Amino acid sequence: MLITEGAVWQRQRRMLQPGFGTKRFDGYARQMVAAAAGALDALPVGGEQPLDYEQAMTMLTMDVIMRTMFSSQVPQDGAAASHAVRVLSRSAMKEMFLPFAVPEWVPLPWRAETRRALRTLDTLVWRFVRERQAAPGEHHDLLAMLMAAADDEGDQGRLSAQEIRDQCMTMFLAGHETTATALTWWGWAMAAHPEIAQRDARGGRGARWPRA
Ligand code: HEM
Repeated sequence: MLITEGAVWQRQRRMLQPGFGTKRFDGYARQMVAAAAGALDALPVGGEQPLDYEQAMTMLTMDVIMRTMFSSQVPQDGAAASHAVRVLSRSAMKEMFLPFAVPEWVPLPWRAETRRALRTLDTLVWRFVRERQAAPGEHHDLLAMLMAAADDEGDQGRLSAQEIRDQCMTMFLAGHETTATALTWWGWAMAAHPEIAQRDARGGRGARWPRA
């Protein structure tokens, strides 16, 4: 959906929109709170040890994506996907700053690793899609939404398996690093303004979040 246009984008947008409505949000928010609680527990205590905060936020947002998209809480899957997304966004930056587009087959230094990372994500997403097709079960995640989505206002059609895979890949890439970066900046802002961090800890909007 991020890179489609015109009629194709309109159809995808119509079909995916209900999955992001406020009614669905309570369930997602519960997963986010549970993931945040897990991430907090994993932080070193004492405050003296250096902490790779960006890495911690990257792991957290990957956990959120895996829970909300696939109802999955397998740390190895999250770690593999997280690494793959990092490799892909690093190489996307390198490609973007090339003075001209270089054909796919040219073996630029980062391209072998990029292909491996893409294969990792592809295998992971297809595994979840295939497992769900074989045993749909009762799930309230984004994958279930994608599989149930019907174009009511259009041709009543469903998303193909390939389209479902594509939307999952997009959400991995669009929804993971963006939120990790936002949280990293938030952490920096809190560390730079402890008086505001204190104010938040005494209760504000956070008090309304649902319990995990
Ligand atoms: C702080 C976090 C985020 C930022 C800053 C951000 C930023 C953006 C921006 C600027 C666009 C518009 C791109 C364009 O017009 O070409 C966009 C679109 C999109 N984002 Fe995000 N995003 C964030 C989080 C997420 C998350 C969590 C998801 C998925 C779960 C997501 C999925 C998408 C999708 C699917 C689109 C395309 C929407 C459409 O074309 O109708 N984003 N995002």
